[in-house]
Amino acid sequence: MAVSVAIDGYSGSGKSTLAKQLAKKIGYLYLDTGAMYRAIALKVLETAGTDFSVSDISKIVRSTTLTIEQNDSSGNRIILDGKDVSDRIREPDVAGIVSPVAAQPQVRLFLVSLQRKIARGKNVVLEGRDIGTVVLPRAAFKFFVTADINERARRRFLELQEKGIKSSLDDVKKNLAERDHIDTTRETSPLRKANDAIEIDSTNLTQEEQLNTVYRIIRKSLWEKSIPVYWLYRGIVRIVVKLFFGLEIHYQNFEAVRHFSGLVASNHCSNIDPPAVGISVPFGMCYFAKEELNTNFIMKLIFKKIPMLWVNRDNPTPASIKQTIDALQDGRPLLVFPEGTRSPDGTIQQAKPGAGMIACKAMVPILPVYVEGTYDILPKGASMPKFHKVRVYVGTPYKLETSSFSGKSKKETYQLASAEMIERIIAIKNNKLR
Ligand code: DC
Repeated sequence: MAVSVAIDGYSGSGKSTLAKQLAKKIGYLYLDTGAMYRAIALKVLETAGTDFSVSDISKIVRSTTLTIEQNDSSGNRIILDGKDVSDRIREPDVAGIVSPVAAQPQVRLFLVSLQRKIARGKNVVLEGRDIGTVVLPRAAFKFFVTADINERARRRFLELQEKGIKSSLDDVKKNLAERDHIDTTRETSPLRKANDAIEIDSTNLTQEEQLNTVYRIIRKSLWEKSIPVYWLYRGIVRIVVKLFFGLEIHYQNFEAVRHFSGLVASNHCSNIDPPAVGISVPFGMCYFAKEELNTNFIMKLIFKKIPMLWVNRDNPTPASIKQTIDALQDGRPLLVFPEGTRSPDGTIQQAKPGAGMIACKAMVPILPVYVEGTYDILPKGASMPKFHKVRVYVGTPYKLETSSFSGKSKKETYQLASAEMIERIIAIKNNKLR
């Protein structure tokens, strides 16, 4: 089935670059719908001027042929009545008139239907203002990109400078604010976030970080859909643990983890920690498992449908490390225990460098989780579980600050990265998310 991705947001929020790079990375068709509005605005400017009337618009819409060509380096080439206007539509006189033109219902009707026609039955990334709300309300993925207006003005100003187009930062900011106003207040399909869109605030994110965030969300979700048996297992185990062990789950910020992908770092004192964390986080996860576990028939059967990364714990091979990093970078969340092994007495132990190494190599977000009660149920060495309440506290994701590791050896860096995970788990334990 074709997958469509809707990326909406304010002018200068970075959504164009994001959409273009994303389409290239996942091999989807890219459509810059803003460029289509700009093309019509150019025609209005050339035929009717800035003082256009509704009947001018009718005539223009009826007499226009607009074709969009895919271009590897620049994304789209916009062909207006047979002429390539891709560069011309970026000039300030077009930017100055595009919002009032885009507010015309006839223009919207014409372009929305053309956009749907182009997107039909294909894997696409569509970028604009009303994609998630009007053009593709059933898009599989919807993102809404925002950024502070000063940052947006700075980016747009640099972009214009690079293209040799003269302007001042102040004018760019004024033009953006004006367009924001017209775009959000117009009657026909105003710019707004669809209820089910994921908001990406790009103010403090690099282009690479924006791309990786969106890419991982998409890949993770497509991967999650491919493991239905995992969800079945998860549902059953969750009911059992709720009934018999009174499972309580506490989230610091549910929205912040709903679409999480990265490393999930938890304390470890019992064999039941992996399922306890797995049933508590709202996303599918991969788990590490010792190769020895994959040898007997029953285990093979159980683990067949669970996304496992098999490792030789005493001697991880470069191939298994690479497989782990690839899975993480491809959006699959992975559970790690920074203590390395189960705590012998239920207390949180010193960090071992393994989890830190994975974090430093994959450079993905980290989600600290504190599990309580599993030691009392099944401590190391016990064979029969005892009844005890389980509480899982899910923290908020954080980014590894590589600058704090400057001057350190690789080994020290890995150790510090693991130690930070432990610190954050202990912080959750002490505050219990209150
Ligand atoms: O993304 P952009 O700056 O190139 O968009 C140009 C204008 O087109 C902008 O002022 C809003 C309008 N637009 C729209 O109304 N609906 C879209 N789907 C895309 C752009």
